[in-house]
Parts: sequence; structure tokens; C-alpha cells
Amino acid sequence: MNKVALITGISGQDGSYLAEHLLDLGYEVHGIIRRQSLTERQTERIDHIDHKLNLYYGDLTDEHCVYKIIQEVQPDEVYNLAAMSHVRVSFDIPAFTIKTNSLGTLNILEAIRNIAPQSKFYQASSSEMFGNNIDDDGFQRLSTTMNPVSPYGSSKLMAYNLTKQYRTGYKLHTCNGILFNHESPRRGTTFVTNKVVKTAVEIKYGIKTTLELGNLDSSRDWGHSYDYVRAMRLILNYETPRDWVVSTGETKSVRDLCEYTFNQLGMNYKDYVIQDEKYFRKEEVNYLRGDSTEIRETLGWKPKYTFNTMIDEMIDFWESNLK
Ligand code: NAP
Ligand code: GDD
Repeated sequence: MNKVALITGISGQDGSYLAEHLLDLGYEVHGIIRRQSLTERQTERIDHIDHKLNLYYGDLTDEHCVYKIIQEVQPDEVYNLAAMSHVRVSFDIPAFTIKTNSLGTLNILEAIRNIAPQSKFYQASSSEMFGNNIDDDGFQRLSTTMNPVSPYGSSKLMAYNLTKQYRTGYKLHTCNGILFNHESPRRGTTFVTNKVVKTAVEIKYGIKTTLELGNLDSSRDWGHSYDYVRAMRLILNYETPRDWVVSTGETKSVRDLCEYTFNQLGMNYKDYVIQDEKYFRKEEVNYLRGDSTEIRETLGWKPKYTFNTMIDEMIDFWESNLK
């Protein structure tokens, strides 16, 4: 019998890579999508595998539909990737962020507890939960105190704690993957990597003349979504439900990102990058660098991409797209 997986947020960056991965492994894949007014672009990231997927209209904030879908699918594995995932935007729509990311997670956990307790549950937790706490050796890990500095980080911390509590209190197989930033050509273009790469390519081809950014001094531990969705499946299939950190262990600043991308395209970022107040945040996470020793040693997870090969792939994507 093929395993049955349900992915919330299947139309997102990670949802699309995870769906491909699970289909390759022989899973029967179900996913929840939202109704949108521009239907043509809604499933752009999964159109190439659409005929192999079972899709349902739904929204995590609607507990009735969450119950109905879980009742119908009776999944072996649930991957909760749906979220209002943009940190800066979470300052603009904090209530929606909490309703989707925290209460939405609770809706799934309650449905699993009541009508599908056999389902394993993966929660897309985030390094944003650490806020500005860093261990003395310069890394964040499971034991690092969490102190989020955005509505997004706070919403994810609530969902993280609920996921732990349903494991310890109700003995369900629930796990958190604390994933550090991960990117790809499928990344939304308002996140900094894809914004920088896309705009740099547009500048090279004369479509734009400048790139407006916020804070250039923050640092992130950037990996590739292709690698990180593989970690999600390993996490859920480990015999003991628990929480894990997934990261590259290397960190680069937004300035480094600009420098590398523009250099690859034969330009100097200093000639084009302008700072604009509107891209700064009320409060910033300054530095992220994750210690993923445990998942590497215990589950054998290892990323295929480096920062450079990932950015090169994104540059190739936008060059062929814009040509
Ligand atoms: P993404 O591209 O923004 O995808 C988010 C998905 O959630 C989209 O399919 C979106 O649907 C859906 N969604 C949003 N609100 C919803 C709601 N109320 N009900 C149902 N679906 C809803 O994000 P991603 O990069 O793939 O990230 C996947 C998950 O990992 C998110 O939970 C994110 O917070 C978390 N995470 C991401 C990173 C990272 O660096 N990428 C790191 C740590 C954790 P629409 O397409 O209709 O908007
Ligand atoms: N988006 C954006 N746009 N960020 C900018 C810009 C800009 O114009 N200019 C500078 N930055 C800086 C941000 O201030 C932040 O320090 C860094 O670039 C990364 O921003 P994002 O790419 O928006 O990602 P994020 O780190 O805030 O959040 C992502 O990673 C989290 C994990 O740490 C998201 O994917 C979250 O969903 C995820 O949980």
C-alpha cells in the first residue's frame, strides 16, 4: 500500500518540492489550496505534477474544512507547510498571521487527535523563533532560548509549542523541523534572495536601473528548498517523534548576497543598490546560523546545494525566463 500524505501549503515553494519528492517515492499525495481570484497563476509551482495530485480547496483558519479534509483523506503523514510566511508583512497583518500560523496549526492537531490519531504530523517551524539569541559559539540549536521579535516568529513559536504538547500530552507522532532560511528559483520574489537575483538580472538586461533594499547587514543561514524538503520526510519517518534543526551551518549577510549575485552577472552591486526605509522592519533578527549536527549524524541528511550553486541556479532561471 502506498503511503498517503497530506500537504498544507502545497502551492508554496516548499509544498511544490515536497510534493515532487513524495510522488517520486511512491506516495499518494493530497494537498490543500486556497481559492484565489487569479486562478491561472495559483498552482504555477505544481502545474507540472497537477495530474498526479489530489487537491482540495481549503483554508487553515476554517476548522470545519480542515476536519472534513482530514476525515476524508485519513493521511499517514501530514506536512503543515501553510503559513503567512513573510516576516515583514506579519507586522502589517498580525491577526491573520496568528490565525493561520498558530490557530491553523491547532485546527490540524485537533483534527488529528479526534479523527485521525494514526497520522504523523510535521510542523514547519522556523529559525525566526530564536529572535536575536545566539549561543556563545555563534550558533542556534534546539537548546537555544527562543525569543521571537516579529508577529510571524511569535505565531510560529505558539505552533511549535502546541506541536510539542500534542506529542507529550496526547502521545501523538508530532515533530517540529526548525528550518533556517531556504530558497530556490520558486521562492516568492518579495523574499530577499529572489528579489536580489531577479532584479540584478533585470538590471543586466536593461529592464530596471536600481535595486531597492532594506537592511544589508543582517545575516542568514541560506540553504535550498530541494534539500530541506528531504529533511522533512526524514524527520517524520524517524522512529521517535522529536524536533530537529535543519541548516547549512554557514551564514552570509544580505550585502554578501548582493556582492556575489552582481559579480556573477559582471556588475558591482554598489552601482545599483539603494536603501529604502520601507523595507526595514520594526525589529530585526540580525544573525542566524544553525547547528544541524544532529540531523546529519542521526538521519544522514546532507545538502546537495551550496550557497553559490543555489544562487547560480536562480540566476540561470531568471536569465532564461527573461530572455
Ligand atoms: P510560501 O511559499 O509562502 O508558501 C506558503 C503556502 O501557505 C502557500 O501555498 C500559501 O497559499 C499557503 N497559505 C497561506 N495562508 C494559508 C491559509 N490561511 N490557509 C491555507 N493555506 C495558506 O512558504 P514556503 O517558503 O514554502 O515555506 C513553507 C513553510 O515553511 C511555511 O510555513 C513557512 O513559514 C515555513 N518556513 C519557511 C522557511 C523558508 O526559509 N522558506 C524557513 C522556515 C520555515 P497561497 O499560495 O494561496 O498564498
Ligand atoms: N524581504 C526582504 N526584502 N528582505 C530584505 C530586504 C528586502 O527588500 N532588504 C533587506 N532584507 C533583509 C531582511 O531585513 C532580513 O534580515 C533578510 O533580508 C531576509 O529577509 P527575507 O528574505 O524576507 O527572509 P526572513 O529571514 O525574514 O524570513 C524567511 O526565513 C525565515 C526563517 O528564518 C521566511 O522564509 C520565513 O518564512 C522563515 O521562517
